[in-house]
Amino acid sequence: MAKKRIVSGMRPTGRMHLGHLHGALLNWKALQDEWDCFFFIADWHALTSEYANPEIIGQSTYEIIADWIAVGLDPEKCTFFIQSEIKEHAELHLILSMITPLPWLERNPTYKEQLKELSQRDLYTYGFLGYPVLQAADILMYKANGVPVGEDQAPHVELTREIARRFNHLYQTKTFPVPQLILTPTSKLLGIDRRKMSKSYGNAIYLTDTPSEVQEKVSQMITDPQRKRRNDPGDPEVCNVYFYHEIYSDPQEVSEIASSCRSAEIGCVECKKKMAESLNKGLDPIRERRRELAAHMEKVREITAEGNSRAREIARSTMDEVRRAIKIVAD
Ligand code: TRP
Ligand code: SF4
Repeated sequence: MAKKRIVSGMRPTGRMHLGHLHGALLNWKALQDEWDCFFFIADWHALTSEYANPEIIGQSTYEIIADWIAVGLDPEKCTFFIQSEIKEHAELHLILSMITPLPWLERNPTYKEQLKELSQRDLYTYGFLGYPVLQAADILMYKANGVPVGEDQAPHVELTREIARRFNHLYQTKTFPVPQLILTPTSKLLGIDRRKMSKSYGNAIYLTDTPSEVQEKVSQMITDPQRKRRNDPGDPEVCNVYFYHEIYSDPQEVSEIASSCRSAEIGCVECKKKMAESLNKGLDPIRERRRELAAHMEKVREITAEGNSRAREIARSTMDEVRRAIKIVAD
């Protein structure tokens, strides 16, 4: 039986860090055997916030796809493509924008939040309001059955479902399946300052950081805030360093650390050293594959070009259907 399809995208605003790895990529990887996967670089979406300084977008596109491959996303199982290479997304976005009621967009919680959060940039644009309509176009173009994303994107998937239903209803068609939200379990891993890991906070550990960069960042990590002195007992359950141990250290060591933290036998400095070691060990194979790819970026470009053609073929056929459904067909 043909696999069902999932579609997900990432905005290219820099290299991949542990937040991306544990917040998305490992989940994508877990899905790649069971689903027909379409993963893409949402460069037009990045433009909605980076329009004044768009250089980073073009620069990071292939670097990110190389990161995806390095963490184990398999180009044999996944179609990787670049949104802006498939011009049909722009056409579908335009058509869907005709049928999307403005209040659906204005009440979008992600929209309101981002307007506030990114207040240093002027996001009061037409394109930014339409962000979820473009996202709906990305998803519906490939008739996705599922959309694997984090909690923050759930409203966008809900909107996509509403737009799909509205289109099907208005034009009495079955063009678009209504896609399911596939919620990514949230990761406990935070940035080195205990805030959500993000490039803009400067608190991220990148997949391509060197072992000594990782060590240095780990040494700056905020631990159990209640543990002020070396002799104070700590509480691993509130400690970000411990969450990393839980993922990257072996279970024996993790339980030893928990008890020696509680009894103040181990200090945070030593604990971090051990964690950095485990983390570096975990990242080594990714770094290794990433280095090989860096030496052969033409391969990454080739893989992407193949993905673009596969995506384009589907996009063309969907757009034929869409144009027929709305009865705007060029002969
Ligand atoms: N908005 C998503 C994010 O910021 C990226 C995205 C764009 C996306 N188009 C998509 C995700 C389609 C899933 C499906 O993370
Ligand atoms: Fe966290 Fe380790 Fe310090 Fe305990 S010893 S508070 S687990 S860094």
